[in-house]
Amino acid sequence: GAGGPLAGRHVLVTSGPTHEPIDPVRYIANRSSGKQGHAIAAAAARAGARVTLVSGPVNLPDPPGVAVRHVESARDMLAAVEAALPADVAIFAAAVADWRAASAADEKMKKDGGALAPLALTENPDILATIAHRAEGRPRLVIGFAAETQNVVAYAQAKRARKGCDWIVANDVSARSGIPGGVMGGDSNAVHLITGAGVEAWPPASKAAVAQTLIARLAAVLGPLETA
Ligand code: C5P
Repeated sequence: GAGGPLAGRHVLVTSGPTHEPIDPVRYIANRSSGKQGHAIAAAAARAGARVTLVSGPVNLPDPPGVAVRHVESARDMLAAVEAALPADVAIFAAAVADWRAASAADEKMKKDGGALAPLALTENPDILATIAHRAEGRPRLVIGFAAETQNVVAYAQAKRARKGCDWIVANDVSARSGIPGGVMGGDSNAVHLITGAGVEAWPPASKAAVAQTLIARLAAVLGPLETA
C-alpha cells in the first residue's frame, strides 16, 4: 500500500514474450507466459511503488494498481522502457525474442509453389544490456533473468557480467528443475539469485512468493526514501 517499503519509488518491469512480425498474419514468438513478470509488478505495487509494466502479448489481466504499456515487438518494448525512465529499479523478466525477420513483408506471403524462400533474420536490441550500460539515468538496481536448461549458475554469472546488471534471477527451465509441469507456463519457480556478493539458492516456491521475496530484498537494499 501507500505506506509500504517501496513508497515513493518507481519500479519498471518487463514481462511476457515478444512477437516479431514475419508478415501481417505471422510472427516469431516463444513460450513465455508472463506469469513471473506480472507477479513481480503486482508485488511491487503492493509494496507501495509506482509501477510501470511493459508487457508483450500475454493472456493475463493487467495487475491492479500498475500502469501497463502493451507492446508487441522487442523494438517496441525498448522504446516503451526508455519512455518510462527514470526508474529506481528495473526488472527485466520478459523473454525477448533474440531475432526478428530482417524485413517483415507488407502483404501476406503466399505459398504459390516452387522454392521456399529462406527467412532472413536479424538480431534484436538487448533491452537489459542497453539500460544497464546507460551512462546517464541508469536505474540504481538493474535486475535480469536467465532461463537456462543446464549449467544454470555458471551461465547466469557470465550473463550478469556481460549484461552489466546488478542481479540475475536464474531459473532452471529444464525438465530436471523439479517443478512439476515445468517452469515455463507453470505457477512455480526454483531460482538462484546471483548478486555481486554471491549466489543464493531459493527453495522452490510459487511465482507469487518468488516475486514477493525479490521485492522484499530490493526494498531492503534501497532502504527508506530519503526526503531531505
Ligand atoms: O541473453 P538472454 O536472453 O538469456 O538474457 C535474458 C535476460 O536479458 C532477461 O532479463 C531478458 O529480459 C533480457 N533480455 C532483454 N532483451 C533482449 C534479450 C534479453 O532485455 N533482447
